[in-house]
Amino acid sequence: LALVTGLALTSILLTACGENSPSILDPAGPIARSESGIFWTILIIAAVVFVGVEGMLIYSTIRFRARPDSPTPPQTHGNTTVEVIWTVIPAIVLLIVLGVTIRGIFDVSTKPEGKTIEVTAYGHQWWWEFYYPEYKMTTADSLVIPPNTNVHVKLYSNNVIHSFWVPQLTGKTDVIPGHDNEKWFSSDKAGVTYEGICAEYCGTQHANMRFNVVVTKDNNEYLSWAQKQQQAAAVPTPGSLEAKGEEIFKNQCTTCHGIVGVSDETPYLKDPNPMGQCDDPTKDNGCLIGPNLTHFGSRNLIAGGVLKNNIEACQPGGDLSNCNLAKWISNPQGVKPGNDMAVNVSSEDLPALIAYLESLK
Ligand code: CUA
Repeated sequence: LALVTGLALTSILLTACGENSPSILDPAGPIARSESGIFWTILIIAAVVFVGVEGMLIYSTIRFRARPDSPTPPQTHGNTTVEVIWTVIPAIVLLIVLGVTIRGIFDVSTKPEGKTIEVTAYGHQWWWEFYYPEYKMTTADSLVIPPNTNVHVKLYSNNVIHSFWVPQLTGKTDVIPGHDNEKWFSSDKAGVTYEGICAEYCGTQHANMRFNVVVTKDNNEYLSWAQKQQQAAAVPTPGSLEAKGEEIFKNQCTTCHGIVGVSDETPYLKDPNPMGQCDDPTKDNGCLIGPNLTHFGSRNLIAGGVLKNNIEACQPGGDLSNCNLAKWISNPQGVKPGNDMAVNVSSEDLPALIAYLESLK
């Protein structure tokens, strides 16, 4: 038993060792620290109880084992002192666990002091959209935040229940249609990227509903990123490969995707609170099913977090055999079966479309 417990503890500790491993045991912000504090407190109490109880059991089994010449031991029926002890001690232990848990609940649900940015996270099947109401801009798959700043996240879904989870920054919160949850978290590390995942089964591609939280080096880097994201898409040079790609985009992609300044449908930038439009059949105000791609080339993930946006393998005129965007556009159902991408871009058109999308920094 001791060996098994030891191995279990070692494996738990080892999972926390990797740099940026998505483990709750490697917290990088106050909320995550409060949550992992609850875990450690309860684990330590449980370990003490476990060692005490198992120790007494093993001791008694050996010390009082039946021997060939053992007489019949004295037979007792009930012992008030022992019964009081084994009722009172667990009651005290449970009260401590209750107190720690309630304090943790208040920690994570109280609006923290200090500078706060606002973000709305919208769970789609199966990708995350992030809307910044202060800037009226939207991204997908990557949530960019400044370090040491509270992030207030409102959680919306109009389809099924999802759950927002960034193990190193904040615990799971359900994203429930018709019931808007919210949460706060912050990162005290700068210039790092954390993994986020959907933690509530939401359909075929639940396991591939991933995202990144990108923490900028400082607040200035965040502000300049935000300033760039608010601008309309770059206009390609007439006659270039990118310009050809823009035409292909306009012909084939605008039913589902918007690019500010290119296709007319830019509801995300017109409406200060556009979340929920796309899955709400009662609203018809230019809603698009797919992510807004205005600054696609600046994102580090594509396809709902399944693939890295490896721009270096997608250079215009280069070999596209390792380009993830090429894999995704040419066979979306092979990469992520069941998703809503239905495209039919010819292999002749593909290089131009990729060159255009990756140029949208
Ligand atoms: Cu969304 Cu699981």
